Amino acid sequence: MNEALARNLSETAAGLDPYWMPFSHNRYFKRHPAHRLLARAEGAYYWTVEGERLFDCLSGLWCVGLGHAHPRIGAALARQFETVDYSPAFQMGYPGTFRLAERIAAMAPAGLDHVFFVNSGSESVDTALKIALGYHRMQGEAARIRFVGRERGYHGVGFGGMSVGGMVANRKMFPSAELPGVDHLPHTHDPAHMAFSRGMPQWGAHLADELARIVALHDASTIAAVIVEPMQGSAGVIVPPVGYLQKLRELCTRHGILLIFDEVITGFGRMGAAFGADRFGVVPDMITFAKSVNNGVVPLGGVIVRKEIYQAFMTGPEHAVEFFHGYTYSGHPMAVAAAHATLDVLESEGVFERVRTLEPVLEDAMHSLKGERGVLDVRNCGLAAAFDLEPVADRPGLRALRVFEHALAAGQLPRFTGDTIAVGPPFISTPAEIAKMADDLRRAIRAAF
Ligand SMILES: Cc1ncc(COP(=O)(O)O)c(C=O)c1O
Repeated sequence: MNEALARNLSETAAGLDPYWMPFSHNRYFKRHPAHRLLARAEGAYYWTVEGERLFDCLSGLWCVGLGHAHPRIGAALARQFETVDYSPAFQMGYPGTFRLAERIAAMAPAGLDHVFFVNSGSESVDTALKIALGYHRMQGEAARIRFVGRERGYHGVGFGGMSVGGMVANRKMFPSAELPGVDHLPHTHDPAHMAFSRGMPQWGAHLADELARIVALHDASTIAAVIVEPMQGSAGVIVPPVGYLQKLRELCTRHGILLIFDEVITGFGRMGAAFGADRFGVVPDMITFAKSVNNGVVPLGGVIVRKEIYQAFMTGPEHAVEFFHGYTYSGHPMAVAAAHATLDVLESEGVFERVRTLEPVLEDAMHSLKGERGVLDVRNCGLAAAFDLEPVADRPGLRALRVFEHALAAGQLPRFTGDTIAVGPPFISTPAEIAKMADDLRRAIRAAF
């Protein structure tokens, strides 16, 4: 879209009407489009159609860690378009996709060494759930059909991801479409015990014991998998308590239940490591990923599985399809090219180390908001942080919207959901940019109370 057209759209409410925006307040946005239409992106910044510069506090939607318009990714995409723009995903192969699977398997924790490609985080989750069901069936344990998710978890918007997810707003409209046989672990955010924790809270590992209760209720022989985000991103950076993920791992291993880490946000750098699994020292049986794998430039996601899981499907006549699942765009050459370029940058430019260096900078900056009027909690882990705000009475979400609007006016684009503000700045951010982000947010909070 050129800028003139964008300006025209912003001036004409009717011009905005046909687009049904996802996860958005459509009516409010279309009445207040000023300063919300983005015309250009480069590095850690956007420019609105009015020409204002906004710091990309959430790296897009947690996906553009290396910054916008990265020249190495752009060059790779241009070359790829000239070479193979699309190749059929079924019964044919594109060499770059095989090489990408090999690279991702090499980055993944030991033992996770096969990769199934999809196009989004939601698809990665639904694919992982299907793999879990298929795996147990192939193992002769077809009764393992239950899943365990977690309250406040976000696993995308497919029917599977919605069902194992734990966000009431995402579920309540579709109760008849929820997968049967899904239980939820309690979430791990209890401000009474952990408000303003820096990094991992010391309290809360025992909450994983709830899995033992669910197993006792249903019997392990009926449970296929447990799925959790190692760090709950969309719920507002809920960091796992020390020892919690280890306990889940032990219980899953003891009961033959697959453990799935949904690493759509935590994968490929956000935690200062390739995966949250590395950061937290717990190896699951499957990892779902998307977003940062190719810097959000072309939709791409996937599931990394243990060898035993892949092997379980490799039975029957060799000429027959083993897993009746996949997408037209699975392993799309353009998405794959962007991923190779992204991994090149992650590997050659010491990005994970940079994230680890920036983590204490972000931690100090965000925790300096403690004590501001109405700030109820601040949390952080890796290059991710969030704070909760005291809601306006009877108007949930309004306070964070007001803070968001003051932040926009100050040149910051954070994310708000409910009365929580989240940030996950680009990996290329400077300490000065992080400090300014926190100061601008502080002013935005003061202006909103
Ligand atoms: C942990 C997690 N899983 C799944 C998803 C869904 O990804 P997508 O929006 O690409 O479908 C998200 C999106 O934020 C996520 O954070």
